[in-house]
Amino acid sequence: MDEKEFYMEAFDNLPALTDNNESVKETFSHVFYDFLQLSHLYDSAIEVVKTYLNILDNEFSVKFQRNPIHNIESRLKSPQSIIGKLQKKGLPLSTDAARKNLLDLAGIRVTCYYISDIYALVDMLGRRDDFTVIKRKDYIKKPKPSGYRSYHMILNVPVYLSTHKEYAPVEIQIRTIAMDFWASLEHQLKYKTSAELTPDISEELKQCAERIAETDIQMQRIYMQINDME
Ligand code: GTP
Ligand code: MG
Repeated sequence: MDEKEFYMEAFDNLPALTDNNESVKETFSHVFYDFLQLSHLYDSAIEVVKTYLNILDNEFSVKFQRNPIHNIESRLKSPQSIIGKLQKKGLPLSTDAARKNLLDLAGIRVTCYYISDIYALVDMLGRRDDFTVIKRKDYIKKPKPSGYRSYHMILNVPVYLSTHKEYAPVEIQIRTIAMDFWASLEHQLKYKTSAELTPDISEELKQCAERIAETDIQMQRIYMQINDME
Protein backbone atom coordinates (compact mmCIF):
# COMPACT_ATOMS: atom_id res chain seq x y z
CA MET A 1 0.00 0.00 0.00
CA ASP A 2 1.50 3.35 -0.91
CA GLU A 3 1.34 6.35 1.42
CA LYS A 4 -1.53 7.96 -0.42
CA GLU A 5 -3.67 4.84 -0.06
CA PHE A 6 -2.64 4.67 3.57
CA TYR A 7 -4.06 8.11 4.22
CA MET A 8 -7.23 7.38 2.25
CA GLU A 9 -7.79 4.34 4.44
CA ALA A 10 -6.83 6.16 7.62
CA PHE A 11 -9.45 8.80 6.99
CA ASP A 12 -12.02 6.07 6.39
CA ASN A 13 -11.79 5.30 10.07
CA LEU A 14 -12.38 8.86 11.16
CA PRO A 15 -16.07 9.05 12.12
CA ALA A 16 -16.21 12.81 11.64
CA LEU A 17 -15.11 12.43 8.05
CA THR A 18 -17.13 9.35 7.14
CA ASP A 19 -20.20 11.18 8.43
CA ASN A 20 -19.37 13.80 5.83
CA ASN A 21 -19.35 13.25 2.13
CA GLU A 22 -16.68 11.48 0.09
CA SER A 23 -15.32 14.67 -1.44
CA VAL A 24 -14.33 16.11 1.93
CA LYS A 25 -12.36 12.96 2.65
CA GLU A 26 -10.81 13.04 -0.81
CA THR A 27 -9.75 16.69 -0.50
CA PHE A 28 -8.40 16.21 3.00
CA SER A 29 -6.29 13.22 2.07
CA HIS A 30 -4.90 14.99 -1.01
CA VAL A 31 -3.89 18.06 0.99
CA PHE A 32 -2.29 15.84 3.60
CA TYR A 33 -0.37 13.82 1.03
CA ASP A 34 0.74 16.92 -0.93
CA PHE A 35 2.03 18.46 2.26
CA LEU A 36 3.94 15.31 3.16
CA GLN A 37 5.60 15.32 -0.27
CA LEU A 38 6.42 19.00 0.02
CA SER A 39 7.97 18.53 3.47
CA HIS A 40 10.05 15.65 2.20
CA LEU A 41 11.35 17.64 -0.78
CA TYR A 42 12.23 20.73 1.26
CA ASP A 43 13.77 18.68 4.06
CA SER A 44 15.94 16.93 1.50
CA ALA A 45 16.99 20.25 -0.06
CA ILE A 46 18.06 21.41 3.42
CA GLU A 47 20.12 18.23 3.80
CA VAL A 48 21.81 18.79 0.41
CA VAL A 49 22.94 22.30 1.42
CA LYS A 50 23.93 21.26 4.95
CA THR A 51 26.04 18.41 3.59
CA TYR A 52 27.86 20.81 1.28
CA LEU A 53 28.42 23.31 4.11
CA ASN A 54 29.88 20.53 6.26
CA ILE A 55 32.15 19.42 3.43
CA LEU A 56 33.45 22.99 3.07
CA ASP A 57 33.92 23.36 6.81
CA ASN A 58 35.91 20.11 6.96
CA GLU A 59 37.99 21.09 3.94
CA PHE A 60 38.93 24.34 5.69
CA SER A 61 40.07 22.47 8.76
CA VAL A 62 42.22 20.15 6.63
CA LYS A 63 43.74 23.01 4.62
CA PHE A 64 43.93 25.84 7.15
CA GLN A 65 43.55 24.13 10.55
CA ARG A 66 40.49 26.19 11.38
CA ASN A 67 36.74 26.07 10.82
CA PRO A 68 34.82 28.98 9.32
CA ILE A 69 31.47 27.67 10.59
CA HIS A 70 30.50 27.95 14.23
CA ASN A 71 26.99 26.51 13.96
CA ILE A 72 24.33 25.44 11.48
CA GLU A 73 20.62 25.46 12.29
CA SER A 74 17.78 24.58 9.98
CA ARG A 75 14.02 24.55 9.99
CA LEU A 76 11.02 23.87 7.83
CA LYS A 77 8.37 26.55 8.13
CA SER A 78 5.54 25.20 10.28
CA PRO A 79 2.13 24.58 8.65
CA GLN A 80 0.77 27.31 10.90
CA SER A 81 3.30 29.91 9.69
CA ILE A 82 2.75 28.82 6.08
CA ILE A 83 -0.99 29.36 6.40
CA GLY A 84 -0.42 32.68 8.19
CA LYS A 85 1.91 33.97 5.47
CA LEU A 86 -0.40 32.82 2.63
CA GLN A 87 -3.30 34.60 4.30
CA LYS A 88 -1.23 37.75 4.80
CA LYS A 89 -0.36 37.77 1.10
CA GLY A 90 -3.99 37.10 0.13
CA LEU A 91 -3.05 33.81 -1.56
CA PRO A 92 -5.06 30.56 -1.69
CA LEU A 93 -4.33 28.06 1.09
CA SER A 94 -2.74 25.35 -1.00
CA THR A 95 0.60 23.59 -1.10
CA ASP A 96 0.86 24.77 -4.71
CA ALA A 97 0.51 28.43 -3.71
CA ALA A 98 3.05 27.90 -0.92
CA ARG A 99 5.58 26.34 -3.30
CA LYS A 100 5.16 29.07 -5.90
CA ASN A 101 5.12 32.09 -3.59
CA LEU A 102 7.00 31.34 -0.40
CA LEU A 103 10.73 31.11 -0.85
CA ASP A 104 11.55 30.59 2.81
CA LEU A 105 9.79 27.28 3.51
CA ALA A 106 13.22 25.72 3.91
CA GLY A 107 15.63 27.78 6.00
CA ILE A 108 19.23 27.37 7.09
CA ARG A 109 21.05 29.71 9.45
CA VAL A 110 24.83 29.54 9.45
CA THR A 111 26.90 31.33 12.06
CA CYS A 112 30.52 32.03 11.20
CA TYR A 113 33.45 33.29 13.23
CA TYR A 114 34.58 36.19 11.03
CA ILE A 115 32.96 38.46 8.44
CA SER A 116 35.45 37.17 5.86
CA ASP A 117 34.15 33.61 6.48
CA ILE A 118 30.67 34.75 5.44
CA TYR A 119 31.87 36.05 2.08
CA ALA A 120 34.01 32.95 1.54
CA LEU A 121 30.92 30.74 2.02
CA VAL A 122 28.74 33.01 -0.14
CA ASP A 123 31.31 32.74 -2.89
CA MET A 124 31.54 28.95 -2.67
CA LEU A 125 27.76 28.45 -2.57
CA GLY A 126 27.36 30.76 -5.56
CA ARG A 127 30.00 28.90 -7.56
CA ARG A 128 28.29 25.51 -7.44
CA ASP A 129 26.96 25.00 -10.94
CA ASP A 130 24.00 22.90 -9.77
CA PHE A 131 22.76 25.61 -7.37
CA THR A 132 21.05 28.68 -8.82
CA VAL A 133 21.01 31.89 -6.83
CA ILE A 134 17.39 33.09 -6.95
CA LYS A 135 17.92 36.09 -4.68
CA ARG A 136 20.64 37.58 -2.52
CA LYS A 137 20.59 40.42 -0.03
CA ASP A 138 23.67 41.76 1.67
CA TYR A 139 22.39 43.19 4.93
CA ILE A 140 26.01 43.45 6.12
CA LYS A 141 27.02 46.07 3.56
CA LYS A 142 23.53 47.58 3.77
CA PRO A 143 22.01 46.85 7.20
CA LYS A 144 18.23 46.96 7.68
CA PRO A 145 16.82 50.13 9.32
CA SER A 146 16.46 48.07 12.53
CA GLY A 147 20.24 47.51 12.58
CA TYR A 148 19.89 43.87 11.44
CA ARG A 149 22.94 42.43 9.72
CA SER A 150 23.24 39.14 7.85
CA TYR A 151 23.87 37.83 4.34
CA HIS A 152 20.74 36.26 2.82
CA MET A 153 20.75 33.95 -0.16
CA ILE A 154 17.94 31.97 -1.72
CA LEU A 155 19.31 29.01 -3.63
CA ASN A 156 17.41 26.69 -5.92
CA VAL A 157 18.70 23.28 -4.95
CA PRO A 158 18.34 20.00 -6.86
CA VAL A 159 17.06 16.94 -5.01
CA TYR A 160 17.56 13.57 -6.68
CA LEU A 161 14.47 11.47 -5.94
CA SER A 162 13.90 7.82 -6.89
CA THR A 163 12.50 8.57 -10.33
CA HIS A 164 13.38 12.17 -11.11
CA LYS A 165 15.09 15.38 -10.01
CA GLU A 166 13.19 18.23 -8.38
CA TYR A 167 14.29 21.68 -7.32
CA ALA A 168 13.44 23.43 -4.06
CA PRO A 169 14.36 26.93 -2.89
CA VAL A 170 16.32 27.17 0.35
CA GLU A 171 16.83 30.42 2.26
CA ILE A 172 20.28 30.66 3.81
CA GLN A 173 21.09 33.32 6.37
CA ILE A 174 24.82 33.64 6.97
CA ARG A 175 26.08 35.80 9.84
CA THR A 176 28.82 36.10 12.43
CA ILE A 177 28.31 34.97 16.03
CA ALA A 178 28.13 38.68 16.93
CA MET A 179 25.39 39.41 14.36
CA ASP A 180 23.51 36.35 15.56
CA PHE A 181 23.76 37.49 19.18
CA TRP A 182 22.07 40.79 18.30
CA ALA A 183 19.46 39.25 15.95
CA SER A 184 18.43 36.62 18.51
CA LEU A 185 17.92 39.08 21.34
CA GLU A 186 16.25 41.68 19.13
CA HIS A 187 13.90 39.02 17.76
CA GLN A 188 13.00 37.94 21.28
CA LEU A 189 12.37 41.51 22.39
CA LYS A 190 10.33 42.32 19.29
CA TYR A 191 8.23 39.21 18.98
CA LYS A 192 7.97 37.90 22.50
CA THR A 193 6.65 41.16 23.88
CA SER A 194 3.07 41.88 22.91
CA ALA A 195 3.52 45.66 22.67
CA GLU A 196 5.35 47.44 19.83
CA LEU A 197 8.85 48.67 20.63
CA THR A 198 8.97 52.41 21.28
CA PRO A 199 11.10 54.56 18.90
CA ASP A 200 13.54 55.14 21.78
CA ILE A 201 14.07 51.44 22.34
CA SER A 202 14.38 50.77 18.61
CA GLU A 203 17.03 53.48 18.40
CA GLU A 204 18.89 52.01 21.35
CA LEU A 205 18.79 48.53 19.78
CA LYS A 206 20.15 50.00 16.57
CA GLN A 207 23.02 51.57 18.51
CA CYS A 208 23.75 48.16 20.06
CA ALA A 209 23.85 46.66 16.54
CA GLU A 210 26.35 49.31 15.47
CA ARG A 211 28.62 48.75 18.47
CA ILE A 212 28.51 45.01 17.87
CA ALA A 213 29.36 45.57 14.18
CA GLU A 214 32.39 47.67 15.19
CA THR A 215 33.58 44.86 17.44
CA ASP A 216 33.13 42.37 14.60
CA ILE A 217 35.36 44.52 12.37
CA GLN A 218 37.93 44.89 15.14
CA MET A 219 38.03 41.12 15.71
CA GLN A 220 38.46 40.62 11.97
CA ARG A 221 41.44 43.04 12.00
CA ILE A 222 43.05 41.24 14.94
CA TYR A 223 42.61 37.91 13.16
CA MET A 224 44.20 39.29 10.01
CA GLN A 225 47.12 40.80 11.93
CA ILE A 226 47.82 37.56 13.72
CA ASN A 227 47.62 35.62 10.49
CA ASP A 228 49.82 38.15 8.68
CA MET A 229 47.18 38.80 6.09
CA GLU A 230 47.37 42.57 6.10
P1 GTP B 1 9.93 37.87 5.00
O1 GTP B 1 8.56 37.94 4.40
O2 GTP B 1 9.93 38.20 6.49
O3 GTP B 1 10.61 36.58 4.73
O4 GTP B 1 10.73 39.07 4.34
P2 GTP B 1 11.69 39.11 3.07
O5 GTP B 1 11.32 38.09 2.08
O6 GTP B 1 11.82 40.54 2.63
O7 GTP B 1 13.04 38.63 3.68
P3 GTP B 1 14.13 39.42 4.49
O8 GTP B 1 15.30 39.56 3.60
O9 GTP B 1 13.60 40.64 5.16
O10 GTP B 1 14.48 38.34 5.61
C1 GTP B 1 13.53 37.82 6.44
C2 GTP B 1 14.21 37.08 7.58
O11 GTP B 1 15.39 37.75 8.01
C3 GTP B 1 13.33 37.03 8.81
O12 GTP B 1 12.54 35.87 8.80
C4 GTP B 1 14.33 37.07 9.95
O13 GTP B 1 14.83 35.77 10.19
C5 GTP B 1 15.45 37.91 9.41
N1 GTP B 1 15.30 39.35 9.71
C6 GTP B 1 15.02 40.33 8.83
N2 GTP B 1 14.97 41.53 9.44
C7 GTP B 1 15.21 41.32 10.74
C8 GTP B 1 15.30 42.18 11.90
O14 GTP B 1 15.12 43.39 11.85
N3 GTP B 1 15.56 41.57 13.09
C9 GTP B 1 15.79 40.23 13.20
N4 GTP B 1 16.05 39.73 14.41
N5 GTP B 1 15.71 39.39 12.13
C10 GTP B 1 15.43 39.92 10.93
MG1 MG C 1 11.06 34.92 5.99
